[in-house]
Amino acid sequence: MIRHLLSAADLDHTEALRVLDTAAELLALADRPIKKLPTLRGRTVVNLFFEDSTRTRISFEAAAKRLSADVITFSAKGSSVSKGESLKDTALTLQALGADAVIVRHQSSGAPHRLAASGWVDGSVVNAGDGTHEHPTQALLDAFTLRRHLAGGVGDLDGRRITIVGDVLHSRVARSNALLLATLGAEVTLVAPPTLLPVGIDSWPVSTSYDLDGALAKSDAVMMLRVQRERGAAGGFFPSAREYSRRYGIDSRRMALLPDHAIVMHPGPMNRGVEITAEVADHERSVIVEQVSNGVAVRMAVLYLLLSGSAGEQDA
Ligand code: NCD
Repeated sequence: MIRHLLSAADLDHTEALRVLDTAAELLALADRPIKKLPTLRGRTVVNLFFEDSTRTRISFEAAAKRLSADVITFSAKGSSVSKGESLKDTALTLQALGADAVIVRHQSSGAPHRLAASGWVDGSVVNAGDGTHEHPTQALLDAFTLRRHLAGGVGDLDGRRITIVGDVLHSRVARSNALLLATLGAEVTLVAPPTLLPVGIDSWPVSTSYDLDGALAKSDAVMMLRVQRERGAAGGFFPSAREYSRRYGIDSRRMALLPDHAIVMHPGPMNRGVEITAEVADHERSVIVEQVSNGVAVRMAVLYLLLSGSAGEQDA
């Protein structure tokens, strides 16, 4: 297994399936009254969050705790980072604490790569979202959810058609999903206003379309993206929120265009009424809450595979 998980492209087909298969075994634990496994007892996992997060932070925390690791959660607000401490000094502090894994979310694209390449920390680095770049564990939990619904929970996603809609330009979720879904054999179509598609999209393993209705009719799943206002998505990229919803949002009329077996996904947090109506968000074919619970099992699998490997090497 790889040492760090920085990009969805770090996982080849075999490794991606290993994470998904391990997560499937670990999910069974979630139904047991005692959810803990002793696997990572004595190991230290640090959650290093420089950017706001609800789902990802608590999900990694739950995952590490269910594997009996010691968990230190560090959020930049209220820490010395707000006094101007650098990533390097923060990392050296974590190293002094003996972190076996550092889960990092950062507003700058590339920060987790810097941490992994610098030698400032010895442990495994897991990218929990860097700027507009990547969010590999989100892609893994999305693939896990897709596999359960579209492939009977086994194998890959060969030939399944997944449509990703909205603010691709600012979305680390879209990039990681495009990479991982291609590895797993799915066909990905991105639908977005031309202003919200990144330069260089031609090099992504996807096709693009501006016709949402046409794409939905051929989709096994649709993944709606949040309009990322904090990254400037509202400023001049489209005329108004109302116009955006009309062209690129999903409502009940559009949902009816999907084949009967298709599912609706969203990584959260949702802007209800912008990219997705409340009716669709709460629909029985929407799997948004399930994505969150699957996230814990997938992150357990990632921590287990990254850390149990390194423990073996140390013991040897
Ligand atoms: C995503 C993120 O932070 O990149 N959310 C998440 O991790 N669940 C998507 C988003 O913020 O829109």
